[in-house]
Amino acid sequence: MATILDGKKLRDRILADLKIRLDKSGKKPTLVVILVGDDPASRIYVNNKKKTAEKLGIKSVILNYPADVAEKELLDKIYELNEDISVNAILVQLPLPEHINKDNIINAINPAKDVDGFTPSNFGKLFSGQKPHVYPCTPKGILLLLDEYNIEIAGKHAVIIGRSNIVGKPLAQMLLNRNATVTICHSHTQNLADITKTADILVSAVGGKIIEENMLKNDCVVVDVGIFKDENGKTRGDVNFEYASQVASYITPVPGGVGPMTITSLMLNTVELFKEQVLSPAERLNFELSSISDE
Ligand code: GUN
Repeated sequence: MATILDGKKLRDRILADLKIRLDKSGKKPTLVVILVGDDPASRIYVNNKKKTAEKLGIKSVILNYPADVAEKELLDKIYELNEDISVNAILVQLPLPEHINKDNIINAINPAKDVDGFTPSNFGKLFSGQKPHVYPCTPKGILLLLDEYNIEIAGKHAVIIGRSNIVGKPLAQMLLNRNATVTICHSHTQNLADITKTADILVSAVGGKIIEENMLKNDCVVVDVGIFKDENGKTRGDVNFEYASQVASYITPVPGGVGPMTITSLMLNTVELFKEQVLSPAERLNFELSSISDE
């Protein structure tokens, strides 16, 4: 029976530590979240981010725009936030409506305030072995969780299902930086099970049932990024948990695994950017934050 990779427990510890540091400093970083439209899932995510931030003493402002907002209005707001020294971190919740060019929006964010690490400057740094301002939240949360349980990465075969800019691609690079052998699978991959059966670390970021019986190697580590409601309204992940938890050595639950770690990384990233922008070198010493090993 697999050991549970408990994202809630690690989140609670990291955020309690972060709160102590923020309280002691008497300082309040500011995160601005831009939410376009009224997608219910995005609204839940954004409200969770706000609740978590406020509990910690991070100021969080949600700017909610109607689904038909003009791209120019969003760009003008981002330019304004870039210049506003009271704003430390900017997040544009994805996905955006079709009529808005997502790349134009992301490219407009000042890389020093890019709390997702999605701008070409931060993304390019990650892929060229330089240090970005911050690492994307979900991959960073996954590495924090693997490190917490001392799971070895170097030399292991990591198979990632999903090639998004939010999870699959940056995670692949971050695991490669840690000397894993990495395979990225996606919707065109043939004979998926033949590949997943060779995974020492299997990460699924699909948002649908994808890992079923006979697809995993004994004692592998399973990280399930997917979260959705099944036909009975039950919240579940990409992985058949009943099966996988019998075969794997470690597994993330859904909910309670990767989700809480993504929010934890967002809080850490907000404070990291704040630290770079605002704190003196002496003050930074009191802000040694939980980090992944190639940070
Ligand atoms: N939508 C789903 N995940 C994310 C994320 O990590 N960042 C942003 N900005 N939008 C998302």
